[in-house]
Amino acid sequence: MNSSNGTTSGIAAKPALRTFGADKRIRCGVVGVGRMGRHHARVYHQLPDTELVGIVDANLERATDVADQWGCRALSSVDKLIAAGVDAVSVAVPTTHHRAVAEELLGAGVACLIEKPLAGTVEDAWAIKQAAERSSGVLMVGHIERFNPIMRALQKERANGLPIVPRFMEVHRVSPMTFRSVDVGVVMDMMIHDLDVVLMLMGGLEPEEIHASGVPVLTAHEDICNARLVFNRPDGPGAGRCVANVTASRLALKTERITRITGENAYIKIDYAAKKGTIIRRIANEIQMEEVREQLRRGVDLTDLKWQELVNIENLVIDDAEPIVAEIRSFLDAVRQGVQPEIDADAGFVNVRTAQRIVEATRADWPTWKARPEVTTRAIGTGAVHPSR
Ligand SMILES: NC(=O)c1ccc[n+]([C@@H]2O[C@H](COP(=O)([O-])OP(=O)(O)OC[C@H]3O[C@@H](n4cnc5c(N)ncnc54)[C@H](O)[C@@H]3O)[C@@H](O)[C@H]2O)c1
Repeated sequence: MNSSNGTTSGIAAKPALRTFGADKRIRCGVVGVGRMGRHHARVYHQLPDTELVGIVDANLERATDVADQWGCRALSSVDKLIAAGVDAVSVAVPTTHHRAVAEELLGAGVACLIEKPLAGTVEDAWAIKQAAERSSGVLMVGHIERFNPIMRALQKERANGLPIVPRFMEVHRVSPMTFRSVDVGVVMDMMIHDLDVVLMLMGGLEPEEIHASGVPVLTAHEDICNARLVFNRPDGPGAGRCVANVTASRLALKTERITRITGENAYIKIDYAAKKGTIIRRIANEIQMEEVREQLRRGVDLTDLKWQELVNIENLVIDDAEPIVAEIRSFLDAVRQGVQPEIDADAGFVNVRTAQRIVEATRADWPTWKARPEVTTRAIGTGAVHPSR
């Protein structure tokens, strides 16, 4: 029974998310205006239905520069930004500070768009998720690859009826060392982008098994890593097994961001950097395949047949919308309507938990002669947890 203070059996009820009318300009702010945050500030300034109210940065000179550029106030703390009356704020401070900033904003009912990853540890990600559950403000995580034109084109195909039931995914994200984000390993820094997409394609299911190997070369963390994630859906649509083989490196001599998805109904190749994607649909090739099968059954010599000419390859149709604009638009739509955003706290949390499991699997394998920073292995939160935890 609900008590007069809105609690049920002493447990605080989740407050309703705030909504905003179609004609209300949403008052926005940015905390942390380094490499990523300054783009958030620009977009809030550019959009017609938002007002950029203030900028906070530990470096006040930097905050002032960006605030002057876009005609808003530079503020020295998050509480001053809250007092200035903001509805929605991007959090783009270094990952280790996400929790402190997000808890303060969410505690005041301010909607947050938190740059990826949600947090650097499972503990912090869980605390942010809890803060979001107690807040009337929306929380979205800025996994920007979801808003890459090529990923949006793929989502459109899905919405138009292409069923994606992945059975095997091969993912490569490699680039030369930039000497940025070296406070975390390549899994939290780069692989997290792909983990978000892989887990999204698996409908939020976490891997049952993880086998990973990683090598620290320049930093105390893994700078290159390969992880094999085994998913198992016991029943329902898409029941069965899927394996994702994910590689990330920040020590490569070239840049490559490619994902190959082999599913029951299609093969899809996504090249994020080139903004290109191809689909080979089972249904569009069924007639040729049946002819080939028949000829193979009859023992016909097909060695002169050119496979590339036999299959029907389609290019994904993409637009050229800027990913960060699409991401912020999606966040603001959720804020305005008071609904769960495209990448909510649950998605951000399982991404971090999977990343941390990969890091732990990697480190368990390191030889004892290597300096091994402490890693916490703790089962936090509920939901699908792999059997070994
Ligand atoms: N989406 C992406 O593709 C992508 C790419 C790079 C980084 N990121 C993420 O964005 C976040 C920021 O990364 P970045 O590369 O912009 O970092 P950065 O170091 O360039 O900028 C961080 C800014 O935050 C300020 N700052 C630090 N602590 C603060 C605090 N407690 N309060 C207020 N300001 C504070 C710093 O002065 C700096 O200006 C990280 O979480 C990172 O993982 C996302």
